[in-house]
Amino acid sequence: MSLNDTKRILFTGGSGKAGRHVVPYLLDRGHQVLNIDRVPLDDPRVDHLTADVTDAGQMFDALSTYANMGELERGDGGPRPFDAVVHFAAIPRNFVTTDAETYRINTQGTYNVLNAATKLGINKIVFASSETTYGICFADGTVQPAFLPVDETHPTAPTDTYATSKVCNEATAQAFAKRTGADIYGLRIGNVIEPHEYATMFPHFFADPAVRRRNVFCYIDARDLGQIVDRCLATDGLGYEVFNAGNDHNSVHLGTAEIIERFYPDVEVRGTLGEHEALYSNRKIRDVLGFVEQHPWHRYVTAP
Ligand SMILES: NC(=O)c1ccc[n+]([C@@H]2O[C@H](COP(=O)([O-])OP(=O)(O)OC[C@H]3O[C@@H](n4cnc5c(N)ncnc54)[C@H](O)[C@@H]3O)[C@@H](O)[C@H]2O)c1
Repeated sequence: MSLNDTKRILFTGGSGKAGRHVVPYLLDRGHQVLNIDRVPLDDPRVDHLTADVTDAGQMFDALSTYANMGELERGDGGPRPFDAVVHFAAIPRNFVTTDAETYRINTQGTYNVLNAATKLGINKIVFASSETTYGICFADGTVQPAFLPVDETHPTAPTDTYATSKVCNEATAQAFAKRTGADIYGLRIGNVIEPHEYATMFPHFFADPAVRRRNVFCYIDARDLGQIVDRCLATDGLGYEVFNAGNDHNSVHLGTAEIIERFYPDVEVRGTLGEHEALYSNRKIRDVLGFVEQHPWHRYVTAP
């Protein structure tokens, strides 16, 4: 990557589970990152401002600020606009706070970030949507996919608060992209797995694959998520797009055909699937963004 490809990025929610791996990935790629979060990110390479994304004024302020003392040295009369925004700050699932708070924080926060960013002329925004938008993860009882693999054309019709907030955010993002011409890419992120979680979680997935049904057997390595965000930052001109963000394989040791036979015997299967190809399709990030998986689970844990 040449120096010209590196960006000055405002990242919201960088102190969280996903952000604390995605932000270092971006720093390692040469980008500059200002983290906006309610709590600091413990990385000396990252600039941080404590701010609340649900406050519109704070977002306009943060998105038009100096990031650090070094930027004062230029002495050219004011902070430059950020080159890009990555918006991850949110309540990341149901059952963390009340439903109404989850909805308020997620939708208001996303509106404020998109509103400030586009009005300040920032034309590349990547935001965290979710696998839950497909309505399966937090359904009351069992909801089957309309078809497999679940790709970005699958209907998004959830019935729970968290996923509904993310569908609302996708509509908001689409509206801002259409009105302003900005590139706004939403990532329908799968279940994020941190490096230490291969040892703590995958043995349970192997012992009882049914626990992965609500995720359509998907996972995304937090570092591979970093690559996906970086690929979004490097890919221009798509307007509004959504991408499933998942790894190449399912999060259990069973072959794809066996998973279908055991869990989805009546679900339509479209096209031909590889022996272990993910039922939560990541073909679009591979084909459009050039994503190449670096962290398949079998690098870190042995199947039974
Ligand atoms: N973890 C997953 O498996 C998963 C899956 C799909 C989508 N996502 C989405 O990815 C994003 C990151 O998820 P995560 O797992 O890292 O969550 P997390 O809760 O670990 O991190 C979210 C961060 O946002 C910050 N935050 C929350 N409300 C804020 C506010 N009002 N103002 C400023 N900062 C605020 C929190 O302090 C936290 O550091 C979220 O948008 C989430 O919905 C996560």
